This record gives sequence, C-alpha cells and structure tokens, in this order.
Amino acid sequence: MSDPLKAELLTVALEAADLAGTLLRDGRPDDLGVAATKTSSIDVVTEMDLASEKLITDFLADRRPGDGVLGEEGASTEGTSGVRWVIDPIDGTVNYLYGLPSWSVSIAAELDGETIVGVVAAPMRGETYSAALGAGAFAGDRPLRVRPAVPLDQALIGTGFGYVAARRAAQGDVLRTLLPEVRDIRRGGSAAIDLCDVACGRLDGYYERGLNPWDYAAGALIAREAGAVTGGRPGVPASTELTVAAAPGLFERLQGRLEELGAWRDGLA
Ligand code: IPD
Repeated sequence: MSDPLKAELLTVALEAADLAGTLLRDGRPDDLGVAATKTSSIDVVTEMDLASEKLITDFLADRRPGDGVLGEEGASTEGTSGVRWVIDPIDGTVNYLYGLPSWSVSIAAELDGETIVGVVAAPMRGETYSAALGAGAFAGDRPLRVRPAVPLDQALIGTGFGYVAARRAAQGDVLRTLLPEVRDIRRGGSAAIDLCDVACGRLDGYYERGLNPWDYAAGALIAREAGAVTGGRPGVPASTELTVAAAPGLFERLQGRLEELGAWRDGLA
C-alpha cells in the first residue's frame, strides 16, 4: 500500500483483532455469564467483552500512544494525532454468550473523522476481513467483491434488531412488510459480519436501525471497498438512524423501500 499511515494502521488493527479474537476463541469460560447490562436487561456485557476491550486498548496505547479511542464498553480518549480507533470488542455478544459462532472483533481507524481502515475478525469462521480506503477489501489475501445487483424480490437481505422493546416492535413492523418482498431475510447477530457478508457476496444487502459506530465503522468500509454502496436515509451517510448496504442498483431500491416503510422511525433517539 502506497500510503504509509494507512499501511501502519492496517497492520496494527490486524494484530489487535487477531490477539483479541484468539483470546475470545480460546479463553471463553464454559460457565460464561452476564457481567452487566446496558440499554435493557437483554443488552448484555460479559467479562470477555471487557477483557477484549482492555487487550485492544492496551495494545493500541502501546503501539499508537497519540491516538484517540472509542470502545463499546466505555473506552474513550481524545488523542492528539487525528487518528481515532472505533472498537467493538465482541460484535455479536449474545451469540458469544450462547456459544453460537457468529461473533466478531471489529476495529476501525478514523483520520479526522473519516474511516480509513477497517478490520473485522470472525475467529469461528477462520476469516478476517479488512480494508483500507481506496485500496480494496480482502478476506486474508483474497480480494472481496459484492454480488451483482438483483431485483429486490430476488435479494437475500441481512438485518438485525435493537435491544429495546419499542425499537424491536417498529423493526418487526418493517420486516413484516419487507419479508414477502425479498428472497429471504437473515439475522446473523453480528452487524459487522453482516456488512462483511455483503462485501463477500454472501448477502445481497443489509439494513438495520440503531447501530452504533463501533458496530458498523469497520464493516461499512469493507463493504464499500468491495463495491457496495452504504448509506442511511436517502442522501444521508450510514449512521445510528439507519445503516443500509448493497451493490449499486439494489442499494437504491432497498433504501427507497426502507424510506417508504419508515425504517428509521420508532420514536427513540
Ligand atoms: C449487536 C449486533 C447485532 C445487532 C445489534 C448490535 P453487540 O452488537 O451487531 O447484530 O443487531 O443491533 O447491537 O451488542 O453484540 O456488540
């Protein structure tokens, strides 16, 4: 890669994700329980979320001491370099808690607010997805490419649900209308993996309301670098309000239908 900063950040992110993924895969206690809850009683944190975030933030502090950090489990430092790391130490915590394989470690690096590097490690798949802005997306060394766009009624669409009942009720209403209009729906349980599955051509598209930056920052860059379009409501970038990803052609149809269905609307911030 010609840009030395991106190359360095990508190397650091890959190393951190590999260390955390190995800790999580090999160190998962058989009796793993819930350490705390967040937005609702089903929005859980395990001791391994905390251990993974500590491992990653200690590693970053050692390798890139001037950088800022934002982590799902509370890490938050400003930094002085213009680089900020956005970390989900386990994306798919409920899957991890239950021993289901679809969980990941998601690490993105922003420069002056723009995501320039993303890494999503999925240890139980034996795959790590990565991208640097303008340099393509990869699973290991294998370049990633989205599937060619298909009509909406032929599209396999991933989605997910928040942890607060009122949001879920609204998400269920949208899904009830959308389900008969698409090939099928998948709910994998890790938004970061869902976005990488769009990048890999394993899903045609993905949408969700209510994601946090640590859920989508790395995966959205990987999807874009594999040829997907990402966004939120029409004309708006992907955000907590709404995140949509799909190949050009399908993206506009999916985004337009979600706009008609009010997929961003549930009365919650
Ligand atoms: C969750 C996962 C899930 C999505 C939720 C996220 P977490 O992240 O990405 O797929 O549907 O909205 O909160 O809580 O496991 O880090």
